[in-house]
Amino acid sequence: MSLRIVDFADLTPAQRAEAARVLAAAFADRPQAFEDPEAEVATFFEDEDRAAIAALEGDRVVGWIGRIDTYSHAWELHPLVVDPAFQRRGIGARLCRELEARVKAAGVLTLYLGTDDEFGGTSLFGADLFPDVASRIAGVRETSGHPFAFYRKQGYEIVGLIPDANGPGKPDIFMAKRL
Ligand SMILES: CC(C)(COP(=O)(O)OP(=O)(O)OC[C@H]1O[C@@H](n2cnc3c(N)ncnc32)[C@H](O)[C@@H]1OP(=O)(O)O)[C@@H](O)C(=O)NCCC(=O)NCCS
Repeated sequence: MSLRIVDFADLTPAQRAEAARVLAAAFADRPQAFEDPEAEVATFFEDEDRAAIAALEGDRVVGWIGRIDTYSHAWELHPLVVDPAFQRRGIGARLCRELEARVKAAGVLTLYLGTDDEFGGTSLFGADLFPDVASRIAGVRETSGHPFAFYRKQGYEIVGLIPDANGPGKPDIFMAKRL
């Protein structure tokens, strides 16, 4: 595989449409996450505080990653998607590395993200996290292919939990990495 990483600004209109298709396909099991994939992709062209890069195999968009300029020195990684047909080939890790290098070069110290567990992919699912939510962070395990395990391998650690973010027992897991 000979991947090329390009800025969203360099995508053709057809590739921009592919980026929306990849987003929809990667979240096919969680369609509520991105109800309008084209509109979500458009924000990365139009909003000043957003930027994204894509992984191309030949001319085909096989994955992409975005960032949102939130705090002065901590930006949010959002979203990260790899075409299901191309997953588990190192593309997600490569996109993380590329984004981290660009964000670091912009003077940012911390990259963070939220990864919801609304389907039972971690040991937090179904649990009542109150009281003393922070004590639940130690010992979180992946139970069935949750991206939390992917991010941990890329060096991100859990920095917070939002209990019941997606309904009872369905938390959001905040992770961050020092760049
Ligand atoms: C999460 C996602 C981006 C990973 O991309 P990918 O290209 O398949 O990941 P990689 O091949 O680069 O994997 C890197 C490492 O993480 C591991 N990994 C990847 N996905 C994983 C998962 N869901 N659970 C556990 N480990 C995972 C790989 O096995 C690999 O491990 P290794 O370094 O020991 O070989 C991709 O599965 C995806 O798009 N999922 C759907 C959308 C999504 O959930 N995005 C994240 C939302 S917060």
